[in-house]
Formats: sequence, structure tokens, C-alpha cells
Amino acid sequence: MYSLLRKALFLTDPETAHGLALEGLRLGHGIGATGLLCGSISQPVTVMGLEFPNPVGMAAGMDKNGDYIDALGSIGFGFVEVGTVTPRPQPGNPKPRIFRLEKANAMINRLGFNNKGVDYLVRQVQKRTFGGILGINIGKNFDTPNEDAANDYMECMEKVYTHADYITINISSPNTTGLRDLQNAKHLGNLLGRLNARRRELADEYHKRVPLVVKVAPDLEDDQITAIAEAVIQNEFDGLIATNTTISRDTVKGMRHAEEQGGLSGAPVKEKANQVLAAFRAALPDAIALIGTGGITDGKDAAEKIRLGADLVQFYTGFVYKGPDLVTDCLKAIQAQSST
Ligand SMILES: Cc1cc2nc3c(=O)[nH]c(=O)nc-3n(C[C@H](O)[C@H](O)[C@H](O)COP(=O)(O)O)c2cc1C
Repeated sequence: MYSLLRKALFLTDPETAHGLALEGLRLGHGIGATGLLCGSISQPVTVMGLEFPNPVGMAAGMDKNGDYIDALGSIGFGFVEVGTVTPRPQPGNPKPRIFRLEKANAMINRLGFNNKGVDYLVRQVQKRTFGGILGINIGKNFDTPNEDAANDYMECMEKVYTHADYITINISSPNTTGLRDLQNAKHLGNLLGRLNARRRELADEYHKRVPLVVKVAPDLEDDQITAIAEAVIQNEFDGLIATNTTISRDTVKGMRHAEEQGGLSGAPVKEKANQVLAAFRAALPDAIALIGTGGITDGKDAAEKIRLGADLVQFYTGFVYKGPDLVTDCLKAIQAQSST
């Protein structure tokens, strides 16, 4: 059924299709159709001290403002990550800013953290009825210099703290100038250290220790991976998401839209994302959770990430190409793998 719907959606530009699909999903949820077709799938796992109904999640960026949590939850995701959200609302980059590379099951986006701001998101997440795990992904405004970036993350963390099951620190979008430099040792220790110190205070105040997770790029050298792993351990982070989109075009050379600026996602990022995932599994103790993201387009891809050491998986682009069935496909493949 989704392949028909996809044909229709792909007749419009990707950003319009995105809005239409999400509104359609909300409508379907409103009349109970998504729940009937998909339902909730129980395959519980405890990760970062949180009980996930199942290990398959919607990656950040699909629902930037927390407008569609219940609709997304109704198609069977064990967790939904909303955002990236910034302290102040911002429009993002000029359109067009999302491109489909259909032959490759891929997309390039340069949205640039278009979002309605953290206060709006907090109001939205308070209305949710979704019973799964909610991650809130936070970033900095485009005009905040890296020297002050920690203040933006701090403000977002404070505002979402009591509403999130876990909080993701996004320092890996390629579409905010200089953001990825926050992954470098010069900034990272200070950023993660300040967030952890403030988290301790918030945990005391609210009697709730919310797990902190850092999201990294697939475009990392070995020494950067080592340095990030050290900073994660030293600053008591609970998990890491590997990975965001890639700036490399090696796997899509010559394809239509391949030279558009932005982050490449979907099938072509899988190999790199998996290499980075495996490298972090080797560099981090088991107690630090890994969320495997990047290039999942079928159940096999999800099971592979678990085999490489992921505790949970997420996807975005695969959902655009495969639709809601991808959730069950991933869960079946993960279950089959764990019972062999
Ligand atoms: C259109 C689009 C927007 C995205 N926006 C965000 C975002 O706001 N924050 C973020 O952390 N990741 C964002 N991502 C990255 C995804 O969450 C994911 O890490 C990446 O696309 C790799 O997974 P995939 O191959 O399953 O899409 C976005 C991806 C796409 C395609």
C-alpha cells in the first residue's frame, strides 16, 4: 500500500511531501487507522536505565517540533526522537533544501535546523499520549558562535529536562556552519563537561537523572573517534548516536542531485555509519549505550547494526522510501537474529 502512496508523494517536492505525509499520518492516527494497521510491537529492552517497548526508533529531524509524536508512535516505534530544536525559533536555509536520490534510496538535506524553538516544542511534548520513549534532540542557533554554543545547549537542556526520557546533544549536523567543530577536542570536553555538571544539579532538583547522549557524524578520523569516546566516558554521558548524515559523495558520484550541498542520508551512508558504530563499540564500555543510525532500509540493515554493537536503532530516510512496514521488518529481523 505504501508503494502507491509513495508514488503520489514523490510527485511533489520532498519538503511538501514530508508535510503531507506527516499530516496524513496524523489523520490516520486520529481515526484509529494507523493503530489498526501497525499497532504497538512489544520487544522490550532496557537501555540507559529506560524501558523501551522495542528497540526501533524514529530518528531526529522527521518531527522537529514535536507535532507528530503520537502519530509516529502509533505505527509501532519503540521510541521517537524529536528535534533538533534550538533556543530561539529559526527559519533554516532557503528552499529547495531537500533532494531525493531515488536510485540510491537516499536524500540530501540542508535544512539548517528550521524549527519553532524550544518553548514551542516543550508545549507540544507535554500533550503527548505516546507510551514509548521520547528523546529530545537539542542544538544551537545558527548565529550563536561556537564559543557560546554551550549556553544554547544548556538553555535547551534546562527547558526540556523534565519532559524528555533522554536528551541528545547534536553536534554533527553539516548544515549549521562550524557545528561539527564542536566534535573536536578544543570544544567537546568543555561542552560535555558543562552539560554533565548542570545535569547533576537538575537530577538533584527533580530527583530524575535524564540520560545524555551525543550524536556524531560519520565523517570522523580514528583519532577523533578516540577523543570523542574519552570525552563521553569522562563526562558521564550515557550513550552515543552513530551517525548523522555524511558530507561525502563517494557513494553517489554522478547521480542526479549528488552535488547538492548538505548531508547525505539513506543507503549510501550505511557503510560509513556502520564503521563508525563498530569503532565506538570498541572504544566505549558496554555500559555506554549505542544507537545505530544511518542507512537502514530493511530488516537486515537493522540486525547488522545490532550485531555491530548497537543497543537500539533508528532510521529516517528508510521510512521515506519504505514506509511504516520498515518498523516491523526491523523488529522481526532483530528478533530472528537474537534467537539464533
Ligand atoms: C531531511 C532530514 C532532516 C534531518 N534533520 C535532523 C535533525 O534535525 N537533527 C538530527 O540530529 N538529525 C537530523 N537528520 C539526520 C537523521 O536523524 C539521521 O541521523 C540520518 O539521516 C541518517 O539516518 P538515515 O539514513 O536513516 O536517514 C535529518 C535527516 C534528514 C534526511
